Amino acid sequence: MAENVIAIDGPAASGKSTIAGMVADRLGIPYINTGNMYRAVTLHAMRQGLDLSECSEDKLAPVLKQIKLDYVKTASGQYEIMLNGEFPGAKIRTPEVASFVSLVAALPNVRTWLIDKQREFARLGRIVMEGRDIGTVIFPGAQYKFFLTASPEERAKRRLAQDGEAPDGATVESIAKAIAERDLLDSTRKTAPLKKADDAILIDTSGMSIEQVIEHILRYIK
Ligand code: DC
Repeated sequence: MAENVIAIDGPAASGKSTIAGMVADRLGIPYINTGNMYRAVTLHAMRQGLDLSECSEDKLAPVLKQIKLDYVKTASGQYEIMLNGEFPGAKIRTPEVASFVSLVAALPNVRTWLIDKQREFARLGRIVMEGRDIGTVIFPGAQYKFFLTASPEERAKRRLAQDGEAPDGATVESIAKAIAERDLLDSTRKTAPLKKADDAILIDTSGMSIEQVIEHILRYIK
């Protein structure tokens, strides 16, 4: 089944989500964003009133039992994450969720709980799946593997220009610092750290337009 998977991994704000979504669109296949699954677990835990600055497997274990996570095809044809029957949408992209999600994603029981769900998506046929460990852990046998990166400054600029994740008053410097902290957490955790698979194609997107990155990827796939 893994031969149907196009894995796109990379650090925060490297442009992966935009690129992965557009590559999937061009190919007319589903796009699954696994970061949203970690964000949805984090949102639910926050709603339960848990103090996530002190994160542990014991604290999250009962939370996992309360969660039903799905990716549902919407009228637009895109797959959207559903958390206990609700489309959380922008609620999983707040600065608060972003500040805790790396701690939640570092917990082995959370990752184990999500692995099976992520592998199940192979049933959809050809898919683009995006995350941190798709090419290394979830689908090591993926047909195509890409690892996207960009300089911290470039990533901070993109984040600032783009979404509601940047807190009020944020600067390129403050965001670059927050991004570097998350990179460190994601790449030094014991379970499934952020890491380029040996056989993944590395693309440094600094100075490249979205269109150039997409064309570069599609050249390998076609
Ligand atoms: O891609 P993102 O910023 O939405 O990811 C949110 C967090 O989830 C990030 O801290 C890394 C983590 N993550 C992960 O550990 N493994 C994945 N496959 C996807 C995301």
